[in-house]
Amino acid sequence: MNRVIKVLKLGASSGRRGAGRGRALVAGGAGFLGSHLCERLLGDGYEVIALDNFHTGKRYNLTGIAGDASFTCIKHDVVDALPGDFAVDEIYNLACPASPPHYQADPIHTFKTSVLGSINLLDLARRHGAKIFQASTSEVYGDPLVHPQPEGYFGNVNTHGPRSCYDEGKRSAETLFFDYSRTYGIDVRVARIFNTYGPRMQPDDGRVVSNFIVQALRGEDITVYGSGTQTRSFCFVEDLIEGFMRLMNAPVAPQHPVNLGNPVEFTIMELAELVVDYTNSRSRIVHRPLPVDDPRQRKPDISFARQHLGWEPKVALSEGLAHTTAYFDALLGGRRSVGSRSAARSSVHVAVGS
Ligand SMILES: NC(=O)c1ccc[n+]([C@@H]2O[C@H](COP(=O)([O-])OP(=O)(O)OC[C@H]3O[C@@H](n4cnc5c(N)ncnc54)[C@H](O)[C@@H]3O)[C@@H](O)[C@H]2O)c1
Repeated sequence: MNRVIKVLKLGASSGRRGAGRGRALVAGGAGFLGSHLCERLLGDGYEVIALDNFHTGKRYNLTGIAGDASFTCIKHDVVDALPGDFAVDEIYNLACPASPPHYQADPIHTFKTSVLGSINLLDLARRHGAKIFQASTSEVYGDPLVHPQPEGYFGNVNTHGPRSCYDEGKRSAETLFFDYSRTYGIDVRVARIFNTYGPRMQPDDGRVVSNFIVQALRGEDITVYGSGTQTRSFCFVEDLIEGFMRLMNAPVAPQHPVNLGNPVEFTIMELAELVVDYTNSRSRIVHRPLPVDDPRQRKPDISFARQHLGWEPKVALSEGLAHTTAYFDALLGGRRSVGSRSAARSSVHVAVGS
C-alpha cells in the first residue's frame, strides 16, 4: 500500500486533462519556488497537482491556494513509485532540497531524489506525452573556470565532496532528461537556475540572502564566509517564474539546458552591507572560514534566454530585498521595523502554522 496522504482537498476529477490551459503536475510544489509556480499556473488557468514530501516545503506556503478547486496537493516522495498514473499535460520537477544544510543532511537521499525522482517523472511524461521541465542549477558549473558561465561550459565539479550529492545529482538528472528526449522523443525543458531569492525561503535554510536578512532582523552577527569577495548574482523569484513560463511555452524546445538568473553581480560583502543598510540593523559583519568547494564566482550568461525567450530579469536587488525583508519581518513576528518603503510595497501575507 502506498503512503499517499492527501493534505488538501482533491479537486473534482474532470476525466480529462483539466479545464482551461490543461493539467500540470508540480513536484516540490510546497517549496519556495514550487509554491510560487503553483500560484502562477493556477492564475494562468491550469489545474495543478502538487507532489511534495514536505522535507523543506511547508504547508503554509500553500495557504493562498489551498482552497482553490483546481488545486490538489499530495504528500509523496518522488524517490518512490508515483501514487497514481496522473494524466497530465505538463510536469515541473522541482523536487529536491536546494540549500546546502538540507541537501547534505541525507546526501544519499538527495542523490536518489535527483535520479530516481527524475526517472519516475520522465516515465510519467512518456506515458502521457506530457512536456516536462527540470529545475537544474548553476551548481552544475561547480567552481567555474569560465566567467560568466554560458550553457556550453561543462563545469568544474568535484565528484566526491560534500556538495557532490546535489551537484552530481543535478548533472545526472540533466543526462536523463536529454536521454529520454533522444530515446523516446519526449519534449523536455531544462533550466539552469542561478541563485534566486524572495518570500517563502526558509529562515533556517542556510542560503545567503535569507541568512543575512534573518541575522540582520534579529540583530545577530552577519556571517560572511571567507573574505566576502566571492561573487553571486541574485534573481528575484517573480522574474524566475516568468523565465520558467517562457521556457516551457517556447514553440521549439531548446536542445540544451538554458541559464535563468540575474547577470548583475555582487560580492557577498556588498550584499551584507546592503542588507544591514536596508534593515537599519545594528548587526556586525563577521567572517568565518569558507566551506569546502564554495564557488568563488557565479554569473549567468543569459544570451540564449534573452534572444530566444525574450526574457531577462526586471526586479532590482533593492526592490527584491524590500519584498523579502518584509516577508521575513512578518514571519519572525514583525519585531523590527524594516522601513515604511518595504512594508508599503510588499503584498506578502504570511500564515505560520506548520
Ligand atoms: N532557489 C534557488 O536559488 C535555486 C537555484 C538552483 C536550483 N534550484 C532548484 O529549484 C528547485 C526548487 O528549489 P527551492 O529553492 O524552491 O527549494 P525548496 O527546498 O524550497 O523546494 C524543494 C521542494 O521539494 C520538496 N522535496 C525535496 N525532496 C523531495 C522528494 N524526494 N520528494 C518530494 N518532494 C521533495 C521539498 O519538500 C520542497 O518543497 C530545486 O530542485 C532546486 O534544486 C533552486
